[in-house]
Formats: sequence, structure tokens, C-alpha cells
Amino acid sequence: MRTYLVTGGAGFIGSNYIHYMFRKYDNEIRIINVDALTYAGNLENLKDIENRDNYTFVKANICDKEAIAKIFAENDIDRVVHFAAESHVDRSIRNPEVFVQTNVLGTAVMLNCAKNAWELPDGTFKPGKKFLHVSTDEVYGSLSEDGGYFYETTPYAPHSPYSASKAGSDMLVKAYMDTYHFPANITNCSNNYGPYQFPEKLIPLIINNALHGKKLPVYGDGKNVRDWLYVEDHAKAIDMVQEQGRLFETYNVGGHNEKQNIQIIEIIIETLQEMLADDDPRKALVSKDLITYVADRKGHDRRYAIAPDKIKEEIGWYPETMFKEGIKKTIAWYFEHEDWMERVTSGDYQKYYNEMYKA
Ligand code: NAD
Ligand code: DAU
Repeated sequence: MRTYLVTGGAGFIGSNYIHYMFRKYDNEIRIINVDALTYAGNLENLKDIENRDNYTFVKANICDKEAIAKIFAENDIDRVVHFAAESHVDRSIRNPEVFVQTNVLGTAVMLNCAKNAWELPDGTFKPGKKFLHVSTDEVYGSLSEDGGYFYETTPYAPHSPYSASKAGSDMLVKAYMDTYHFPANITNCSNNYGPYQFPEKLIPLIINNALHGKKLPVYGDGKNVRDWLYVEDHAKAIDMVQEQGRLFETYNVGGHNEKQNIQIIEIIIETLQEMLADDDPRKALVSKDLITYVADRKGHDRRYAIAPDKIKEEIGWYPETMFKEGIKKTIAWYFEHEDWMERVTSGDYQKYYNEMYKA
């Protein structure tokens, strides 16, 4: 039975990944989820699987090398899937230090603890061990509106403190692979959307605000482009890269689904109007009149677009969920989980659910 150490599993993509892995492998794997439960970590995301015998939660900070080394010492870890990070660009502009702390230093701790646990006396590594570092397309910087894509060979050119810290973490993984032949992969993915996404990010923020008749803030001219991928497709890509990819390689993961922010907002409004029943009082609140142009994000990258050719050709991965279907599934999930959103926006998820868990 393979044992996974997943970092940041209580966040958006990490929790979707854990659900995906148990759906796919059921009792064939064991998962240890280590998460510091920052504002972005919510154990309620995992309540469906928390009682499984093959799942363990450990509350710990990835910068705490004793705590991480202890997990490796007490468990024969076969796979590390490293999601834990500070992930929100706007927060990184307001408070960069914690991004450097978690994303750069935390990744260094994860790499070093895995290396110490897996390295043999002759400097090679125990067979079959693998570390996957989950990264972002933002490390490549910004594309012009009229063309070009991010390839694995595109030079790094991060602009925000968030993307700079993720670039730093990628460089550390590359350094471990080059220096020690450390068995790792990096994935650089585009913007994800789907269930359990924290409503500071564009799509859940717009869904939630629209349903409450609140303003829908559009940064700048609203024409910045992102390449949106349904989160389950990302989870699948991570598993496929780890099991079928060539070690030491980077794989770009993207949806081939470029949209301007204003288009995303309009699609959400139209889909909400379509999906809400006529007698639902929220229907009257949802309106394009709520769209409000606000000051632009500082250093706002204009366009991201991934070329997922390598992962498609080498591994056979492709995005299965088209945006039209994915956004309906996402909105349906938020309809069914109004209480989740309510506890997140009120802060109750931290007061009650997360409090039940101690290290
Ligand atoms: P998220 O903010 O929703 O979740 C981050 C998780 O990490 C939370 O559970 C949080 O508690 C935990 N965490 C933060 N600091 C920690 C620390 N010091 N120690 C232990 N745990 C800590 O993030 P997300 O959107 O799920 O992103 C997950 C990963 O995927 C990140 O590495 C991010 O850079 C990357 N990524 C995200 C996207 C996206 O669109 N969201 C796209 C590409 C890559
Ligand atoms: O590209 C991958 C990245 O996508 C991940 O690495 C990050 O962790 C993730 O947060 C995301 O970064 P973005 O900055 O692209 O996502 P966000 O949802 O914050 O913003 C998406 C776009 O929408 C961006 O151009 C800014 C804009 N925006 C965002 C918010 C929150 C608005 O116009 N209004 C808003 O209120």
C-alpha cells in the first residue's frame, strides 16, 4: 500500500485532490494530510473522508522541521504531494513576508526532510520514492494579449510576491533534482475553479456576491485573461504525472480555456439566472448592474495561457471538463453548500470545526 504525505490538504486544491485519490484508489493507498490550518485551511472540506482508517490529519506548519521530520520518521512515506502555500496574489501584495516564509522556506523544509528520509548511504534514493511540487503558471510572468503560450521552457519572470515566492520554491526543487538527483516532478498549473474554493478568489467571490446582491468588483478594465481549469482535472493531472511522468521533468497543466475576467463574470451571472428557480428570491438580486469597476491590482499580469502539449503527448492527460459544464457543476455545488459558504464568510469554520483538531 502506497503512503502519501499531502501538504495543504485542507485547502481548495488539496482537499479536492484527496477526495479524487480516495475515489480512485479507495483502500489501496494511505494519505497523511499535514496542514497548518491557516485562514485558507478548512477541515470541513474533508469531513466526508475524515473517519477513514487510511486517512490521518496532522496539524503542523511545513516550516517546522522537527514536526515534518517526525512524520517521515514515523511513517514510510512513498509519495509527497506538496500543495501547502500562501496562494492569494492580493494578500501577497499586502503582506509578502509570509509568502516567502511558507512558500520558499516551507518548501526547503519539505525537500530536506524527504531527502533525509529517502537518501541511502551511497547518495542514491530508496527506489520508488517520489516528490511532486504543485506550482503555478504565474512563475512565467505575463503574456501579451495577441498571442503566445507558456511552455515548460519559457523563462521564469514572476511579478507578484506570490509568484516570486512560488518561483523560488520551484528553483529549490530544481536544485535538489540537479544537485542530489532527488526524485521529483514539478507541475505548473493555470487558474483552478470548483468546489471548496475560498471566496477571496474571483469565481467563488462573484458567485457569492451575486447571490447576495452585492457589488461584483472588476479590477482595471476587466480584460485580463486567465486560463481556467476545473479542479478535478488538476487533481487527475497530478496523479498522472506522479505515476506516469518522467522523473525530474516539469509538466504544464492548463485548460485551453482562456477568458477575460469580465467574460467570466458575465457567464456566472447568466448561468445563475438560468439555474435559479423563478420563485427563488435570489433570482431578483442577480444582475449585471452589480458589476463595478474598481482600482486595478498592482502589477496585474495581463494574460496567462498554458500550452499543455507535453503532458498530453507524454502522458495522455487532457482537460475533461469543459468550462460550460464545469461552471454549472461549481455553481450547483455552491447552491448545495450554502452553509459551507456561510461558515467560511462568517469565520465560524475556524472557531468550531478546525478547533476540534489539535496537533
Ligand atoms: P489554498 O490557499 O486554498 O490552500 C492552501 C493550504 O495550505 C491551506 O489548507 C492552508 O492551511 C495550508 N497552508 C498554508 N500555509 C501553510 C504552512 N505554513 N504549513 C502547512 N500548511 C499551510 O491554496 P490552493 O488554491 O488550494 O493552492 C494549492 C497549491 O496549488 C498552492 O501551492 C498554489 O500555489 C498551487 N496552485 C494553485 C492554483 C489555483 O488556481 N488555486 C493554480 C495553480 C497552482
Ligand atoms: O494562475 C494560477 C493562479 O491563479 C494560482 O497560482 C493562484 O494561487 C490563484 O489565486 C490564481 O491567481 P489569480 O490572481 O489569477 O486569481 P484570482 O482569483 O485572485 O484573480 C483572477 C483574476 O480576476 C485576476 O486577473 C484578478 C481578477 N479579479 C480578482 C478578484 C478577487 C478581479 O477582477 N476582481 C476580484 O475581486
